[in-house]
Amino acid sequence: MSKVLAVAYSYTGTSRRLAQLLVAQQQWTLAEVREARSRSGVAGTWRCLLDSFFHRRPKIHYDGPNPSEFDAVVLVSPIWAYRLAGPMRSFVASQRASLRDVAMISVMGEGGAPNAVAEVTQLIGRPPLMNAAFKTREVDDGSYAGRLKAFGKAVQEARDSSPAVRPSTWSPRAA
Ligand SMILES: Cc1cc2nc3c(=O)[nH]c(=O)nc-3n(C[C@H](O)[C@H](O)[C@H](O)COP(=O)(O)O)c2cc1C
Repeated sequence: MSKVLAVAYSYTGTSRRLAQLLVAQQQWTLAEVREARSRSGVAGTWRCLLDSFFHRRPKIHYDGPNPSEFDAVVLVSPIWAYRLAGPMRSFVASQRASLRDVAMISVMGEGGAPNAVAEVTQLIGRPPLMNAAFKTREVDDGSYAGRLKAFGKAVQEARDSSPAVRPSTWSPRAA
């Protein structure tokens, strides 16, 4: 069975709650991206918007397991100003060489998930294996649990049925 790591960033707690349920449903490992600088207050919210407008990569702390030890990584992140939240941008950019298969979940009020998928595609150089979007209110009222479980199962099955392509498989020395 393939090993899957969920990596979440959350500003107000919704993505964290979703990621916690996902790993409990699938018995995966959870890790979190944290910020070096607090985003509390109005200034913090403005900084979220500016990070999105200018595609900034704020400084983060990641002390979870090395993603290269996992067959797939599921990114869980909120949408800010119709874009991927800045701290998840920083994580993907800094860890892209360690990421094998990638799936992603966007958590949002109304819209913007396709832009986040496009950004991750550009950062890792290939489209995510699978992606899904959940609205804040679905997470708040609990109605998302079934769809989340189906998504997690689909990721696990897709990963289990696809043979891993490791650099050694196609490097000239291994031929
Ligand atoms: C600064 C900021 C910008 C946001 N921009 C969007 C947006 O463009 N589209 C959207 O659907 N939701 C937007 N939201 C709502 C969040 O994506 C949503 O509340 C999400 O559930 C927050 O996840 P979190 O609790 O894990 O931080 C924004 C929230 C913040 C704080």
